[in-house]
Amino acid sequence: MAELANNVDLNVSDHNSVAEFCKTQSIDLVVVGPEAPLVAGLANDLRQAGFSVFGPDKAAAQLEGSKAFTKSICDKAHIPTAGYAHLHDKASALSALDDFQIPVVIKADGLAAGKGVIIAETRQQAQDAIEDMFGGGFGDAGAQVVIEEFMQGEEASFFALTDGKNIVRFGSAQDHKRVGEGDTGPNTGGMGAYSPAPVLTADLEDRVMRDIIEPTVKTMAAEGMAYNGVLYAGLMLTADGPKLIEYNCRFGDPECQVLMMRYQGDFAVLLKRIADSDLGADEAMEFSNQSAMTVVMAAKGYPASPEKGGMIDLGTHEDDVQIFHAGTAIKDGVLVANGGRVLNVTAMADSVTAAQKSVYAAIDKVDFPSGFYRRDIGYREIAREAESG
Ligand code: AMP
Ligand code: GLY
Repeated sequence: MAELANNVDLNVSDHNSVAEFCKTQSIDLVVVGPEAPLVAGLANDLRQAGFSVFGPDKAAAQLEGSKAFTKSICDKAHIPTAGYAHLHDKASALSALDDFQIPVVIKADGLAAGKGVIIAETRQQAQDAIEDMFGGGFGDAGAQVVIEEFMQGEEASFFALTDGKNIVRFGSAQDHKRVGEGDTGPNTGGMGAYSPAPVLTADLEDRVMRDIIEPTVKTMAAEGMAYNGVLYAGLMLTADGPKLIEYNCRFGDPECQVLMMRYQGDFAVLLKRIADSDLGADEAMEFSNQSAMTVVMAAKGYPASPEKGGMIDLGTHEDDVQIFHAGTAIKDGVLVANGGRVLNVTAMADSVTAAQKSVYAAIDKVDFPSGFYRRDIGYREIAREAESG
């Protein structure tokens, strides 16, 4: 961002000082990106102060902030999702567990930075997860627990933008959450993604809009919590059709990077119109038909304890390659790693296979000895492309 804009060090949990900054700078549009400030109500306070804000209010951000809230919206709107139980104490959770088959999914209700979901392969693991959550292992996030039926299928993400009334489709993507190749090892924020996800066919996308997104937007408005912003639907493509796993109130990282590569309109203008509730019904978005892929270069030790300070030489790249910085810093004039996920090496091409080739060719030119990355991003789609010739 530093190449394009001035980065300012603001304390986002101090809403007054953010509003004050917006006032002195005459800010026209505020995009509240991550989930924590949305759930904390930063969008409410900035709207209250008279600013145009893209991002849901506190009440609407519960779609990401509380798994039980989302389940209750699914009930009200008859949205296809995993069967579940919502529990407030350990004894009732342990007893409710008996009604579920194994594997079973145990979720801390609140925000847990992607760590609050345990897929239990045995009853013992499920019991341990419940004990851990009610024992405070997940802080306040685990004060309530959702037990969910395990859904089988391939995962895909679908994005929709809404001003609370009208909705536009904003494409699809597939992330790779596990740290290791072949989807092994611990969960991460995401090690690479591509867009679109052809596994979500046009027909399935229509079903997702009709059965999941539209009823959600309608129900939220009817409940007095009109949703303004991006709805990121995490989907399981089951034998019975697409089912909602969860909602995020943000574009996703690294999903955002591949969506931005493909979006061809004026993004700031689009977000401003949504912030001002000025979206048309079913507007077509301008997207490239090409496939975009991004591969995360992370610091060794990620996700548990990423090594900081490793030197990076980006090298020189073709115009169709874009390297987004995630966790970098400049130290004594040298680019160094300064976080877990460090770089997103991104390219576009006519197929996922070709995009992957460009990305890995670009990565080969990046010198980052204390970094690592997955070599198999996009493997599911690449296998399908090979099969269909
Ligand atoms: P979440 O943090 O809700 O995205 O969950 C993290 C991951 O857990 C998802 O991306 C899925 O891979 C998996 N997951 C969550 N809920 C279920 C479910 N009911 N059935 C199967 N997998 C699930
Ligand atoms: N990459 C997954 C997420 O941002 O939630």
